[in-house]
Amino acid sequence: MSNNLFDIIDSMLPSTYSIGDEGMTPTSHRNSATNLLTAIGPLRLENPTILASGVLGVAAGGLMSAWNGGAGAVVTKTIGSTAQPGHPGPRIVGSRGGGLLNAMGLPNPGVRSYLPEIKAATEKGACVIGSIMGNKPAEYGKVAGQLAKTGIKAIELNVSCPHVGSLYAQGLQPEHVSAVVKKVVKTSGGKIPVWVKLPGSTDYPRLVEVAKAAEASGAAAVVAINTLPAIALDVEAQRPSLGGGIGGLSGPAIKPVALRAVWELYKSNLTIPIIGVGGILDGNDVIEFLLAGARAVQIGTGVLLQGPTIFKQICRQLVQYIKSHEINNLEPLIGCGHQKTA
Ligand SMILES: Cc1cc2nc3c(=O)[nH]c(=O)nc-3n(C[C@H](O)[C@H](O)[C@H](O)COP(=O)(O)O)c2cc1C
Repeated sequence: MSNNLFDIIDSMLPSTYSIGDEGMTPTSHRNSATNLLTAIGPLRLENPTILASGVLGVAAGGLMSAWNGGAGAVVTKTIGSTAQPGHPGPRIVGSRGGGLLNAMGLPNPGVRSYLPEIKAATEKGACVIGSIMGNKPAEYGKVAGQLAKTGIKAIELNVSCPHVGSLYAQGLQPEHVSAVVKKVVKTSGGKIPVWVKLPGSTDYPRLVEVAKAAEASGAAAVVAINTLPAIALDVEAQRPSLGGGIGGLSGPAIKPVALRAVWELYKSNLTIPIIGVGGILDGNDVIEFLLAGARAVQIGTGVLLQGPTIFKQICRQLVQYIKSHEINNLEPLIGCGHQKTA
């Protein structure tokens, strides 16, 4: 993968999509295969593919392009209580071996300005999940309270971004995660399911501890994983390649690590659903995540590389897999990989 591709993607990110773009077309061509239905707690999805947070910018058109591309749900860019410009460029660089390194710095317009964009997507029928961040539980609560009025179907807590303040470190503290979940569950009156997005860490015992704390505090699902903390250096400038210094690694390079996280979480007898994310490009990747124990998946870098119709393509491949393995739906696959280990 050339860096040029990623330069192009970077320049597209903040402003490509806006209300009125072609992404806002009606949803008539959505994937309607009923045998891909899945449920994340109380939330039913028509298929298990979800747009991961952040990759298509902040506007409704980005969410709608993924929804119209066949996603079963779409997660917003992570939103904070006030506007943030994000890190200086470069914000994305390619990494050999199928990885993408970003230090966007969670640029966002702040929750108040974001509300009309989210409403524009929910009013068009999209199943929208609101991703939020904060420094303290109270700040998460404040943002969640505002989002709850937009018709979103779940709230995803970003306690795991590796290039913004202490989010990543906080996401590895079970007490902090527990306090954030309790606050957000309370603010949203217990009516909107709360998902916790876990850090890209290979400290699996800690990851399981955090997930169990989230579960005990009322979370409806965990999402594994966010990008892995990483860095690239520019050998001519002799400094970090990314303007923000430390970045997060995504794409096919992290798939085995993300799978391992899902594997360990499932093995720990967590009772809430696991949503897998990291490096998914095709239907086989999704099947791997289901076998490891995920009930749904999110796709980020794959959307940047293949465009928003990746969701439809993957759904077609999942239907083929179901047919060729003579099963009726995806349910028998979930966690089934664990039964056959030596
Ligand atoms: C350009 C870019 C922006 C991202 N922004 C966010 C974000 O705002 N919030 C978040 O929780 N994760 C964010 N992520 C992480 C993704 O949602 C996802 O967890 C990660 O990229 C791994 O999945 P993938 O390999 O399919 O991309 C971002 C990733 C990329 C590449």
